[in-house]
Amino acid sequence: MKVLPIKTKSKHYKIYIGNNIVNQIDKITKKENINFEKSLFIIDRNVPNSIIKKIKSKIFSEKKFIYLFNASEKNKNLSSINSILKILLKNNFTRNDVIICLGGGITGDVSGFAASIYKRGLKFINIPSTLLSQVDSSIGGKTGINNKFGKNLIGSFYQPDLVISDTKLLESLPRREIICGYAEIFKHSLIKDKKLFFFLDKNLEKIVKLKKKFIEKAILESCKIKKEIVEKDEKESNLRKSLNLGHTFGHAYEAALNYSKKLNHGEAVLYGILSAAKLSKKIRSLKNNDYDLIVSHLSKLNFDNLNKFFKTKDLNRIIKFMILDKKNISKKINFITINKIGSVNTKNQISPPKIKQFLKIELTK
Ligand code: GLY
Repeated sequence: MKVLPIKTKSKHYKIYIGNNIVNQIDKITKKENINFEKSLFIIDRNVPNSIIKKIKSKIFSEKKFIYLFNASEKNKNLSSINSILKILLKNNFTRNDVIICLGGGITGDVSGFAASIYKRGLKFINIPSTLLSQVDSSIGGKTGINNKFGKNLIGSFYQPDLVISDTKLLESLPRREIICGYAEIFKHSLIKDKKLFFFLDKNLEKIVKLKKKFIEKAILESCKIKKEIVEKDEKESNLRKSLNLGHTFGHAYEAALNYSKKLNHGEAVLYGILSAAKLSKKIRSLKNNDYDLIVSHLSKLNFDNLNKFFKTKDLNRIIKFMILDKKNISKKINFITINKIGSVNTKNQISPPKIKQFLKIELTK
């Protein structure tokens, strides 16, 4: 078991990473001195019953409540938050009580947001059950919900008190879901760590097949990179923007396909990273050698050509979503570009017609 301390301005907490460690949640909370009388478990309905039982039986609290959540972007809304708040209020939870989240990124975002606004904040333990949430959304305190105006437009920065990332929980997930989380690990290597990139490139299959030693190292190294970034820039003034590598393109691709099952979030991010690498090469920031390494790694995962999904007639729709991106601060679109493997630039502003022209060439290749 590995323990990674996270020290942000607003809170210090630890991430525990290991195989079958939810069994030790009682010992871990005791060691971390996290005490409470009442606990509300917010659990993604997709989590197998056997795991729910195991975790529940290990938590000692006077009163335990459960809210089963149908995790989906559609249900990541104010109405779910209201249902959670009602349980907390009806049962007179105090700030010393706890929300324990068991689920993926959507469940984590909803639970964290509820925890942040109930009596201005109660204790929050996150047990991420997907690779994506273990390497990304459970670290750094972004919480939020969607509404008809867009995704994550209402939210807060609220750090958890404890994160337990158990790789055993990943074993029931389909390969596609693992690749989705892998996208963020790969992204982290491009942002900050060439050594991690070579480790991923050499051991790709072992990692996605969840070979214990390899998946644990990939998660730990990836979390270390996100830790370093959020510790320096918790509220995303500048450095944290680097974590959006591949996401300006990726978000637009998934939105342009109406978030269909054809392309999930992580897959869109991998295509987004491919586009960011091509753009970086075009603007002469990324040299051929590193570019070739990135493209070759993505092609091992079969992410090689966007025209499986889009034709030139879709370009206006893609650009429209890029313009709506909430990270833009002018009429230009903000892109994270790659300088070399392990270093990115957060400050590129490119006009919509220029990006359209760039994508047009990519789609007609
Ligand atoms: N997922 C990007 C961030 O946490 O900032």
